[in-house]
Amino acid sequence: MNAIEISHLTKKYSNGVMALEDISFTVGGGIFGLLGHNGAGKTTLMKAIVTILRPSCGTISVCGFDTKKQGDNVRSLIGYLPQELSMYPSLSVFDFVSYMAALKGVPDTKKIQEVLNQVGMQGVSKRKIGRLSGGMKRRVGIAQALIGDPQVLIIDEPTTGLDPEERVRFRGVLSRFAKDGRTVLLSTHIVEDAYQLCDQLAVLRKGRLFYNGSAENLLQKVNGKIKLVRLRNEEQLIALQEQAMVISTAYENGGLTARIMDEKSAFLQAEPVTATLEDAYIYCMGGKSHE
Ligand SMILES: Nc1ncnc2c1ncn2[C@@H]1O[C@H](COP(=O)(O)OP(=O)(O)O)[C@@H](O)[C@H]1O
Ligand SMILES: [Mg+2]
Repeated sequence: MNAIEISHLTKKYSNGVMALEDISFTVGGGIFGLLGHNGAGKTTLMKAIVTILRPSCGTISVCGFDTKKQGDNVRSLIGYLPQELSMYPSLSVFDFVSYMAALKGVPDTKKIQEVLNQVGMQGVSKRKIGRLSGGMKRRVGIAQALIGDPQVLIIDEPTTGLDPEERVRFRGVLSRFAKDGRTVLLSTHIVEDAYQLCDQLAVLRKGRLFYNGSAENLLQKVNGKIKLVRLRNEEQLIALQEQAMVISTAYENGGLTARIMDEKSAFLQAEPVTATLEDAYIYCMGGKSHE
Protein backbone atom coordinates (compact mmCIF):
# COMPACT_ATOMS: atom_id res chain seq x y z
CA MET A 1 0.00 0.00 0.00
CA ASN A 2 1.23 3.47 -0.83
CA ALA A 3 1.78 5.86 2.08
CA ILE A 4 -0.06 8.66 0.30
CA GLU A 5 -2.32 8.47 -2.72
CA ILE A 6 -3.52 11.69 -4.29
CA SER A 7 -6.19 11.39 -6.94
CA HIS A 8 -7.57 14.22 -9.09
CA LEU A 9 -7.09 16.70 -6.28
CA THR A 10 -8.37 20.22 -6.89
CA LYS A 11 -8.43 23.08 -4.42
CA LYS A 12 -10.08 26.38 -5.17
CA TYR A 13 -9.94 28.96 -2.39
CA SER A 14 -13.04 31.01 -1.60
CA ASN A 15 -11.46 34.07 -3.24
CA GLY A 16 -11.35 32.15 -6.52
CA VAL A 17 -7.63 31.25 -6.53
CA MET A 18 -7.14 27.84 -8.09
CA ALA A 19 -4.29 26.61 -5.86
CA LEU A 20 -4.32 22.99 -7.08
CA GLU A 21 -5.78 21.59 -10.27
CA ASP A 22 -6.32 17.90 -10.95
CA ILE A 23 -3.24 16.62 -9.13
CA SER A 24 -2.63 12.86 -9.05
CA PHE A 25 0.45 11.03 -7.76
CA THR A 26 1.47 8.51 -5.15
CA VAL A 27 4.11 8.60 -2.45
CA GLY A 28 5.70 5.32 -1.35
CA GLY A 29 8.37 4.91 1.35
CA GLY A 30 11.53 6.95 1.74
CA ILE A 31 12.00 10.69 1.34
CA PHE A 32 9.73 12.24 -1.28
CA GLY A 33 10.20 15.84 -2.42
CA LEU A 34 7.53 18.33 -3.38
CA LEU A 35 9.29 20.95 -5.45
CA GLY A 36 7.97 24.23 -6.82
CA HIS A 37 8.29 28.01 -6.81
CA ASN A 38 6.56 30.13 -4.21
CA GLY A 39 2.83 30.03 -4.86
CA ALA A 40 2.98 26.69 -6.72
CA GLY A 41 0.60 25.06 -4.24
CA LYS A 42 2.95 23.05 -1.99
CA THR A 43 1.58 24.31 1.33
CA THR A 44 -2.02 23.93 0.13
CA LEU A 45 -1.35 20.31 -0.85
CA MET A 46 0.28 19.53 2.49
CA LYS A 47 -2.57 21.13 4.42
CA ALA A 48 -5.03 18.98 2.48
CA ILE A 49 -3.01 15.84 3.30
CA VAL A 50 -2.93 16.62 7.03
CA THR A 51 -6.70 17.36 6.91
CA ILE A 52 -6.45 21.08 7.77
CA LEU A 53 -7.93 21.98 4.36
CA ARG A 54 -10.78 20.25 2.60
CA PRO A 55 -10.21 19.55 -1.09
CA SER A 56 -12.73 21.03 -3.55
CA CYS A 57 -12.57 17.85 -5.64
CA GLY A 58 -10.63 14.61 -5.64
CA THR A 59 -9.39 12.34 -2.87
CA ILE A 60 -6.33 11.76 -0.70
CA SER A 61 -5.61 8.63 1.26
CA VAL A 62 -2.91 8.14 3.87
CA CYS A 63 -1.97 4.49 4.52
CA GLY A 64 -5.34 3.54 3.07
CA PHE A 65 -7.42 6.00 5.11
CA ASP A 66 -9.44 8.67 3.35
CA THR A 67 -8.68 12.21 4.57
CA LYS A 68 -12.31 13.32 4.25
CA LYS A 69 -14.03 10.30 5.77
CA GLN A 70 -11.38 8.98 8.17
CA GLY A 71 -9.66 12.14 9.36
CA ASP A 72 -8.96 10.83 12.87
CA ASN A 73 -7.12 7.78 11.51
CA VAL A 74 -5.13 9.98 9.14
CA ARG A 75 -4.17 12.44 11.88
CA SER A 76 -3.01 9.62 14.16
CA LEU A 77 -0.61 8.39 11.45
CA ILE A 78 0.88 11.77 10.57
CA GLY A 79 3.49 14.07 12.08
CA TYR A 80 3.38 17.61 10.64
CA LEU A 81 5.81 20.49 10.68
CA PRO A 82 4.06 23.54 9.19
CA GLN A 83 5.95 26.16 7.20
CA GLU A 84 5.41 28.69 10.00
CA LEU A 85 5.38 26.98 13.39
CA SER A 86 4.96 29.46 16.22
CA MET A 87 7.30 28.61 19.05
CA TYR A 88 7.24 30.44 22.35
CA PRO A 89 10.73 31.98 22.69
CA SER A 90 10.69 32.01 26.50
CA LEU A 91 9.92 28.29 26.80
CA SER A 92 12.71 25.76 27.10
CA VAL A 93 13.10 23.16 24.34
CA PHE A 94 11.81 20.48 26.69
CA ASP A 95 8.81 22.51 27.85
CA PHE A 96 7.84 23.42 24.30
CA VAL A 97 7.93 19.80 23.12
CA SER A 98 6.04 18.75 26.29
CA TYR A 99 3.40 21.34 25.49
CA MET A 100 3.00 20.03 21.94
CA ALA A 101 2.89 16.46 23.29
CA ALA A 102 0.11 17.41 25.70
CA LEU A 103 -1.87 18.92 22.80
CA LYS A 104 -1.48 15.64 20.94
CA GLY A 105 -2.53 13.68 24.00
CA VAL A 106 0.87 12.02 24.53
CA PRO A 107 2.10 13.61 27.79
CA ASP A 108 4.87 11.11 28.39
CA THR A 109 8.22 12.48 29.63
CA LYS A 110 10.14 9.48 28.34
CA LYS A 111 8.73 9.95 24.84
CA ILE A 112 9.77 13.60 24.89
CA GLN A 113 13.33 12.64 25.76
CA GLU A 114 13.16 10.08 22.97
CA VAL A 115 12.14 12.53 20.24
CA LEU A 116 14.77 15.02 21.44
CA ASN A 117 17.36 12.22 21.17
CA GLN A 118 16.14 11.40 17.67
CA VAL A 119 16.94 14.92 16.48
CA GLY A 120 20.15 15.25 18.53
CA MET A 121 18.78 17.93 20.87
CA GLN A 122 19.04 16.04 24.16
CA GLY A 123 22.02 18.14 25.27
CA VAL A 124 20.15 21.45 24.95
CA SER A 125 16.72 20.51 26.25
CA LYS A 126 16.87 23.22 28.94
CA ARG A 127 17.82 26.00 26.55
CA LYS A 128 15.24 28.68 25.76
CA ILE A 129 13.76 28.45 22.24
CA GLY A 130 14.62 32.12 21.72
CA ARG A 131 18.32 31.32 22.05
CA LEU A 132 18.44 28.56 19.42
CA SER A 133 19.92 28.85 15.93
CA GLY A 134 17.58 28.51 12.92
CA GLY A 135 18.74 24.95 12.33
CA MET A 136 18.18 23.95 15.95
CA LYS A 137 14.68 25.43 15.88
CA ARG A 138 13.95 23.37 12.79
CA ARG A 139 15.08 20.25 14.66
CA VAL A 140 12.76 21.10 17.55
CA GLY A 141 10.02 21.41 14.92
CA ILE A 142 10.84 17.90 13.71
CA ALA A 143 10.92 16.64 17.31
CA GLN A 144 7.37 17.82 17.95
CA ALA A 145 6.29 16.21 14.65
CA LEU A 146 7.80 12.89 15.79
CA ILE A 147 5.61 12.71 18.90
CA GLY A 148 3.23 9.78 18.75
CA ASP A 149 5.50 7.75 16.46
CA PRO A 150 3.97 8.77 13.11
CA GLN A 151 4.22 6.57 10.06
CA VAL A 152 4.31 9.58 7.76
CA LEU A 153 6.14 12.87 8.31
CA ILE A 154 4.92 15.95 6.42
CA ILE A 155 7.37 18.85 6.58
CA ASP A 156 6.84 22.15 4.81
CA GLU A 157 9.99 23.97 3.61
CA PRO A 158 12.23 22.62 6.37
CA THR A 159 15.57 23.46 4.77
CA THR A 160 15.11 27.18 4.08
CA GLY A 161 17.89 29.12 5.80
CA LEU A 162 19.86 26.15 7.07
CA ASP A 163 23.66 26.35 6.97
CA PRO A 164 25.57 23.50 5.29
CA GLU A 165 26.41 21.74 8.54
CA GLU A 166 22.79 21.79 9.71
CA ARG A 167 21.72 20.59 6.29
CA VAL A 168 23.86 17.46 6.62
CA ARG A 169 22.57 16.85 10.14
CA PHE A 170 19.01 17.38 9.01
CA ARG A 171 19.44 14.88 6.23
CA GLY A 172 20.68 12.34 8.78
CA VAL A 173 17.58 12.82 10.94
CA LEU A 174 15.23 12.34 7.99
CA SER A 175 17.14 9.38 6.54
CA ARG A 176 17.07 7.57 9.89
CA PHE A 177 13.34 8.19 10.13
CA ALA A 178 12.68 6.94 6.60
CA LYS A 179 14.85 3.83 7.00
CA ASP A 180 12.29 1.43 8.44
CA GLY A 181 9.71 1.82 5.73
CA ARG A 182 8.38 5.13 6.96
CA THR A 183 7.66 8.05 4.70
CA VAL A 184 8.79 11.66 4.63
CA LEU A 185 7.09 14.17 2.36
CA LEU A 186 9.02 17.42 2.32
CA SER A 187 8.42 20.53 0.31
CA THR A 188 11.09 22.91 -0.88
CA HIS A 189 11.67 25.60 -3.49
CA ILE A 190 15.40 24.82 -3.40
CA VAL A 191 16.24 22.41 -6.22
CA GLU A 192 19.58 21.39 -4.74
CA ASP A 193 17.93 20.35 -1.46
CA ALA A 194 15.42 18.21 -3.30
CA TYR A 195 18.27 16.57 -5.23
CA GLN A 196 20.32 15.90 -2.08
CA LEU A 197 17.48 14.67 0.10
CA CYS A 198 14.83 13.03 -2.03
CA ASP A 199 14.60 9.75 -3.90
CA GLN A 200 11.43 10.69 -5.76
CA LEU A 201 9.99 14.06 -6.72
CA ALA A 202 6.80 15.78 -7.69
CA VAL A 203 7.20 19.20 -9.27
CA LEU A 204 4.29 21.63 -9.00
CA ARG A 205 3.87 24.66 -11.19
CA LYS A 206 0.99 27.06 -10.69
CA GLY A 207 -1.15 24.39 -9.08
CA ARG A 208 -0.45 21.76 -11.73
CA LEU A 209 1.68 18.63 -11.52
CA PHE A 210 4.60 19.17 -13.84
CA TYR A 211 6.78 16.18 -13.15
CA ASN A 212 6.63 13.03 -11.08
CA GLY A 213 9.52 10.58 -10.91
CA SER A 214 13.11 10.28 -9.76
CA ALA A 215 15.53 13.19 -9.62
CA GLU A 216 17.83 11.19 -11.91
CA ASN A 217 15.18 10.92 -14.61
CA LEU A 218 14.51 14.63 -14.40
CA LEU A 219 18.22 15.27 -14.86
CA GLN A 220 18.28 12.96 -17.89
CA LYS A 221 15.88 15.31 -19.67
CA VAL A 222 18.67 17.85 -20.10
CA ASN A 223 21.84 15.80 -19.73
CA GLY A 224 24.31 16.50 -22.56
CA LYS A 225 22.23 19.41 -23.88
CA ILE A 226 23.28 22.24 -21.60
CA LYS A 227 25.82 24.62 -23.14
CA LEU A 228 27.52 27.85 -22.29
CA VAL A 229 27.42 30.71 -24.80
CA ARG A 230 29.63 33.80 -24.46
CA LEU A 231 28.01 37.04 -25.51
CA ARG A 232 29.22 40.58 -26.10
CA ASN A 233 26.11 42.46 -25.05
CA GLU A 234 22.44 42.36 -24.12
CA GLU A 235 21.37 42.64 -27.78
CA GLN A 236 23.09 39.33 -28.48
CA LEU A 237 21.26 37.83 -25.54
CA ILE A 238 17.92 38.96 -26.91
CA ALA A 239 18.80 37.42 -30.27
CA LEU A 240 19.88 34.19 -28.56
CA GLN A 241 16.59 33.96 -26.69
CA GLU A 242 14.86 33.74 -30.06
CA GLN A 243 16.85 30.64 -30.96
CA ALA A 244 17.24 28.67 -27.74
CA MET A 245 15.88 28.32 -24.25
CA VAL A 246 18.07 30.39 -21.94
CA ILE A 247 18.35 28.67 -18.56
CA SER A 248 20.34 31.38 -16.81
CA THR A 249 22.71 34.26 -17.46
CA ALA A 250 25.76 35.55 -15.61
CA TYR A 251 28.26 38.39 -15.85
CA GLU A 252 31.72 36.89 -15.64
CA ASN A 253 35.00 38.80 -16.00
CA GLY A 254 33.16 41.69 -17.58
CA GLY A 255 31.54 39.45 -20.22
CA LEU A 256 28.06 38.02 -20.40
CA THR A 257 27.49 34.27 -20.52
CA ALA A 258 24.25 32.40 -21.07
CA ARG A 259 23.48 28.82 -20.07
CA ILE A 260 21.25 27.38 -22.75
CA MET A 261 19.32 24.22 -23.49
CA ASP A 262 20.56 23.14 -26.92
CA GLU A 263 17.72 20.76 -27.69
CA LYS A 264 18.59 20.09 -31.31
CA SER A 265 22.39 20.32 -31.04
CA ALA A 266 22.29 23.45 -33.18
CA PHE A 267 24.96 25.37 -31.24
CA LEU A 268 28.10 23.60 -32.34
CA GLN A 269 30.42 26.39 -31.17
CA ALA A 270 28.98 26.55 -27.67
CA GLU A 271 30.81 24.90 -24.79
CA PRO A 272 29.03 21.82 -23.35
CA VAL A 273 28.77 21.88 -19.55
CA THR A 274 27.64 19.38 -16.93
CA ALA A 275 23.89 19.58 -16.48
CA THR A 276 22.47 20.15 -13.02
CA LEU A 277 19.04 19.39 -11.60
CA GLU A 278 18.53 23.14 -11.46
CA ASP A 279 18.93 23.23 -15.27
CA ALA A 280 16.39 20.42 -15.64
CA TYR A 281 13.98 22.16 -13.30
CA ILE A 282 14.17 25.50 -15.10
CA TYR A 283 13.80 23.68 -18.42
CA CYS A 284 10.64 21.98 -17.11
CA MET A 285 9.37 25.32 -15.88
CA GLY A 286 9.71 26.76 -19.35
CA GLY A 287 13.00 28.69 -19.08
CA LYS A 288 14.41 31.64 -17.19
CA SER A 289 11.76 34.14 -18.24
CA HIS A 290 9.03 32.02 -16.65
CA GLU A 291 10.56 31.81 -13.18
N1 LIG B 1 -5.86 30.96 2.46
C1 LIG B 1 -5.73 31.30 1.17
N2 LIG B 1 -6.72 31.96 0.53
C2 LIG B 1 -6.60 32.29 -0.77
N3 LIG B 1 -5.53 32.00 -1.54
C3 LIG B 1 -4.51 31.33 -0.96
C4 LIG B 1 -4.55 30.95 0.43
N4 LIG B 1 -3.41 30.30 0.73
C5 LIG B 1 -2.68 30.28 -0.41
N5 LIG B 1 -3.34 30.90 -1.41
C6 LIG B 1 -2.88 31.03 -2.81
O1 LIG B 1 -2.80 29.73 -3.35
C7 LIG B 1 -1.66 29.59 -4.19
C8 LIG B 1 -0.77 28.49 -3.66
O2 LIG B 1 -0.21 28.89 -2.42
P1 LIG B 1 0.66 27.93 -1.50
O3 LIG B 1 -0.03 26.63 -1.38
O4 LIG B 1 0.99 28.67 -0.25
O5 LIG B 1 1.99 27.75 -2.41
P2 LIG B 1 3.49 27.37 -1.99
O6 LIG B 1 3.45 26.73 -0.64
O7 LIG B 1 3.97 26.47 -3.08
O8 LIG B 1 4.26 28.66 -1.96
C9 LIG B 1 -1.01 30.96 -4.21
O9 LIG B 1 -1.48 31.64 -5.34
C10 LIG B 1 -1.49 31.60 -2.93
O10 LIG B 1 -1.51 33.01 -3.05
MG1 LIG C 1 4.45 27.16 1.11
